[in-house]
Amino acid sequence: MTATRHLIGLLLGTEEDWPTAFEEILGRLGPVAGTGGSRHAFDIERITIEPFSLRDRPRYALAIDRLAYWYYHPREWLKKVALMDGVYLLNSPFTFQSMEKHAAYCAMMRLGLKVPDTVLVPYKNPVDNARYAYTAERYNKPFDLDAIAQRIGYPLFMKPYDGGAWRGVSRVSNAAELHAAYDQSGEMLMHLQKAIDYDVFARSLSIGAETMVMRFQPEQPMHLRYAVDHEFLSPQVGGEVVTIGRLVNAFFRWEFNSCETLVKGGDVYPIDYANACPDVALTSLHYYFPWAIKALVKWCVFVLVTGRRPRLDLEADRFYEIADQPGASYGDKLGGYRQLADAYFETGRYHDFCAASLPHIDEIVLDWVTGPAFDRLLIQTVRSTYPAYEHERFVAHLRGLIDLWIADETARLRAG
Ligand SMILES: Nc1ncnc2c1ncn2[C@@H]1O[C@H](COP(=O)(O)OP(=O)(O)OP(=O)(O)O)[C@@H](O)[C@H]1O
Ligand SMILES: [Mg+2]
Repeated sequence: MTATRHLIGLLLGTEEDWPTAFEEILGRLGPVAGTGGSRHAFDIERITIEPFSLRDRPRYALAIDRLAYWYYHPREWLKKVALMDGVYLLNSPFTFQSMEKHAAYCAMMRLGLKVPDTVLVPYKNPVDNARYAYTAERYNKPFDLDAIAQRIGYPLFMKPYDGGAWRGVSRVSNAAELHAAYDQSGEMLMHLQKAIDYDVFARSLSIGAETMVMRFQPEQPMHLRYAVDHEFLSPQVGGEVVTIGRLVNAFFRWEFNSCETLVKGGDVYPIDYANACPDVALTSLHYYFPWAIKALVKWCVFVLVTGRRPRLDLEADRFYEIADQPGASYGDKLGGYRQLADAYFETGRYHDFCAASLPHIDEIVLDWVTGPAFDRLLIQTVRSTYPAYEHERFVAHLRGLIDLWIADETARLRAG
């Protein structure tokens, strides 16, 4: 029987590490069995940016986007193929219209999550629009920034409503710092948010139905931010962090996203969970990189072989019904959200599919990471990321962490 061929498009910026890994694993995987004796083969192409007719038919069945958050020509192409052609997108730019933190904060507050108190203040500097002066004079009410900060309570964070990469983020401890931060915000639109004095920072990366919760150390340089630590959360808190990430993603139809939560005692506070293009760099994920690329391959294969359809509708009411259940505790609601989220991601079916159709993927990835091709990728990535005098140090650092993963993974597969 001839295999059905599926073409996957990668819409990339500057990154070379994970696309190479993705191409390599999918290539080694070869054709995959579906239901009823069907066979499926996969091709990958890096998408180039060209003029397109709005009536062109795309060749791609699925596209992974890492570009549209700043480059608008491919973003409009993605919208066209989402609306007209049913191409499966990780992520759809429609769902990431909510890519600003603000909408995500609102939705999760509405669902009763412990998002820290947050206030949006008007622009500090005039907006570049001829109508601004008149409109602002007439309708911008004077406000007392100090009183807002006092109501929230110091310390607090001032940060852009649509932030990313720490741009414009400051921790504010008193009135002088508050005014300095606001003066500097210029044309950025800012939130003031209560600071959480957390015990531990948990950052979870979700890819389809899978989530990896990692201990994050924001005060460290990039290559040390993800600590390798498997026991840093109690099972209950760990479960809550996974549920929150999956809930956010199911609510907004995000399939590839990272979620930042601050944990204090037994409480989990989500602070940032709208990352259209989450960090999956080898140099920052290191130990967790093989997991991430494997999860991405598995999810794409699952989507294509089972014919999962992209969804643009949010069905927010189904989540709000749970939020509004009289007498339901926070724990009850999380349980309800988790069920909706797992149903959306077909979590059970996904795991059954992986067991039946991808039985050797763990060995394939382990074999690749252990071999010379992965080491070449590691060296190339270090060379393109760091200055020459640091190459040796970072190659050794990454090799050490990858060796640790190889040892752990080998033990896990032997035990299983
Ligand atoms: N409410 C808060 N309480 C405590 N720390 C906070 C809070 N908000 C932000 N931070 C700190 O500031 C950092 C940056 O904030 P945030 O994640 O919102 O901005 P960002 O620009 O999206 O950053 P990144 O791209 O790294 O995710 C966080 O990683 C955290 O260390
Ligand atoms: Mg963040």
